[in-house]
Amino acid sequence: MGRLQDKVAIVTGGASGIGAMIVDRFVKEGATVIAADINEDALNKASEKENVYGMKLDVTSEEGWKSLTKDVQEKFGKIDILINNAGVSTEKTIDELDYKDWEFLNKINGFGTMLGMKYTVPYMTENKKGAVVNLSSITSQVGMGLNSYSASKGAVRAITRAAATQYARNGVRVNAVFPGVIQTPMVASLESSDQALAQINAMTPMGRLGKPEEVASAILFLASDDASYITGVELPIDGGYTAL
Ligand SMILES: NC(=O)c1ccc[n+]([C@@H]2O[C@H](COP(=O)([O-])OP(=O)(O)OC[C@H]3O[C@@H](n4cnc5c(N)ncnc54)[C@H](O)[C@@H]3O)[C@@H](O)[C@H]2O)c1
Repeated sequence: MGRLQDKVAIVTGGASGIGAMIVDRFVKEGATVIAADINEDALNKASEKENVYGMKLDVTSEEGWKSLTKDVQEKFGKIDILINNAGVSTEKTIDELDYKDWEFLNKINGFGTMLGMKYTVPYMTENKKGAVVNLSSITSQVGMGLNSYSASKGAVRAITRAAATQYARNGVRVNAVFPGVIQTPMVASLESSDQALAQINAMTPMGRLGKPEEVASAILFLASDDASYITGVELPIDGGYTAL
């Protein structure tokens, strides 16, 4: 029996990188997984796998969330797990940023995460049980120069704690993970620069980047009943970067 046997999970940004790895891992552990993403082409590929249902979603759309959660409830009878993973990044400095950049990043990473909880937690509450894992980032804890991205992930960090305390008596646990630099399409430009890569590796006690499967494993733990007395935690997955 899998660690998520018969659970119904929604994974946003499930068509790429860390999200795609979470989808695979959850299915292996017995879950039915809704991969929700804005990228329809990548979603179609993800949905070819057994027990994976691709659904198009822009996480910033209230209407989109309303209709997706209603469809999932009608089709599968419940929602057990939400992984707020969809995200976007920028390397712009403060000098280069304008309001449009700020709004774009914060709307998807921050507001999108809040909307996910707003529309899934009521279904979890009906069963007095649920688990949410939000994707923050070590850039919300240390200065890595990713300005508006860091701010948006700081919002994820804060709202995770607020939601954990608000929903604890509804039986819904809310935790956050803080990945370091993980090998996905999001960091492709960093990986292609020998200098940047050497700098990150030098600052990471383990001396290497993380792999999407290493993030998926930690998220699996927090989403599963193995973490039944854990809520509001901030778990770094960073090869020791923030321990320095
Ligand atoms: N890769 C890293 O180093 C790293 C580090 C810390 C945190 N994170 C976080 O992990 C999460 C996953 O990142 P990744 O590295 O796998 O990136 P990725 O670019 O490979 O995947 C992000 C996914 O989010 C989807 N997405 C973007 N905007 C969306 C929207 N409006 N609605 C729905 N889906 C949308 C994209 O289509 C894509 O499939 C993000 O929240 C990211 O900020 C990544």
